[in-house]
Amino acid sequence: MRRPRVGGRTLEHVGDRTDTVCQEARWRRASLVDKLRERGSIRSAAVGDAMLAVPRHRFVPEAPLRAAYADDVFVTKRNNEGDALSSASQPAIVAEMLEQLDVAPGHRVLEIGAGTGYNAALLDALVGPRGSVTAVDLDADTVKRAREALDAVGCERVRVVQADGEAGFAEGAPYDRIIVTVGTWDLPPAWWDQLAEGGRLVAPLQIRGSEHSVAFDYTGGVLRSRSVITCGFMPMRGIGSHESQAVELSEGRIIAFHADKEVEAAGARGVLDERGTTVWTGVRIAPGEDTAQLSLWLACAFSGCGRMSAPFGDHGKLRLMLRWANPAVVDGGAFAYVACRRDGDADDVRGSGIEVGVRGHGPGGEALAERVAAQVAVWNRECRGDVRLQIEAYRSGVGPTVEGRFVVPKRHSRLAIRLARSS
Ligand SMILES: C[S@@+](CC[C@H](N)C(=O)[O-])C[C@H]1O[C@@H](n2cnc3c(N)ncnc32)[C@H](O)[C@@H]1O
Repeated sequence: MRRPRVGGRTLEHVGDRTDTVCQEARWRRASLVDKLRERGSIRSAAVGDAMLAVPRHRFVPEAPLRAAYADDVFVTKRNNEGDALSSASQPAIVAEMLEQLDVAPGHRVLEIGAGTGYNAALLDALVGPRGSVTAVDLDADTVKRAREALDAVGCERVRVVQADGEAGFAEGAPYDRIIVTVGTWDLPPAWWDQLAEGGRLVAPLQIRGSEHSVAFDYTGGVLRSRSVITCGFMPMRGIGSHESQAVELSEGRIIAFHADKEVEAAGARGVLDERGTTVWTGVRIAPGEDTAQLSLWLACAFSGCGRMSAPFGDHGKLRLMLRWANPAVVDGGAFAYVACRRDGDADDVRGSGIEVGVRGHGPGGEALAERVAAQVAVWNRECRGDVRLQIEAYRSGVGPTVEGRFVVPKRHSRLAIRLARSS
């Protein structure tokens, strides 16, 4: 097998060539990379080579090889309630975010959320010997674990620091690239201060119920998005933590909000125990088409927009548009969520598109479903083809009043969300 060269050098895997465990790890890694290439999560040779070179199993030694090379998140730490506190993220989103970040040899990179150290090793491979990588994590035990794993695979140059990522890491600034691998509600001042002019920030940004990995280019004091991908990360803890609101509508059926202020949802409790009504929109999504823009649109259009996961509701033949981050809206006692059916009702047609519908429950549920469906139609009319929602972020208290199709205020930043033609 060709030894991958990245960032101008060959990554040698310590103890990774002779024993049979490592041979199995290599073919599993190669097959994962092939799959991610086929699905389009890996698009560049640099990211593909880095993922071929870095042995993910060395960063999750407690995982069987099959799990280490599955396209799945591997949780490495939980709190007493069972909530995940640290993990190796799903390889597909790791690859997508590295593609968004567009790292070049020689770059100085800051990662917020070191976790297992796996992504930091990939970044090290991408920046090469002339670049530098600093990764910060909130927890001392996580930092220790990442340090040990990085040392074991020969990535001693990566700096791992225990710090609250809200403050970035000023000592290594300015950075050409900042990547945040933990869900964030805001864009705190340190990230603006520590990013070089012309640099790029990639962060999983929560807007109401939605979470999207947004790649921002930084020029003239403005962060302007160039791509938006649906994602789901564990939320940031520490100074920048923003409590998400979880509402149990019926037993075990929970909807989560990252609202700007608490969503009044008490009236909607129990609505899923009653039958609902579906409003069909006639709007179709092609096979493989990205729905990130639609979920972002709905999150911007409805202050009561949250996200829900399957299994949920009386779906029958309906499907959720997104299994784990499906857009749903609460308004008083009414509840409505996006539901889909296969195009033409052809259940068994592989790869067919879907039609978007909205299912309403509770008093006023049908009217709310009509309102959500109307917004799906507006999105379809105004924001498809080569038109996209573009997020422009401005620091709070700096510059003029911002305007956009939607304006979402945060604590440290203001987001102006506009329609823009993709270049
Ligand atoms: C999804 S994991 C990151 C995965 C990691 N990039 C990897 O390759 O394994 C998220 C990490 O963010 C860390 N974290 C949470 N809040 C943080 C904060 N305020 N500052 C720095 N790290 C934080 C967690 O401790 C956790 O390790």
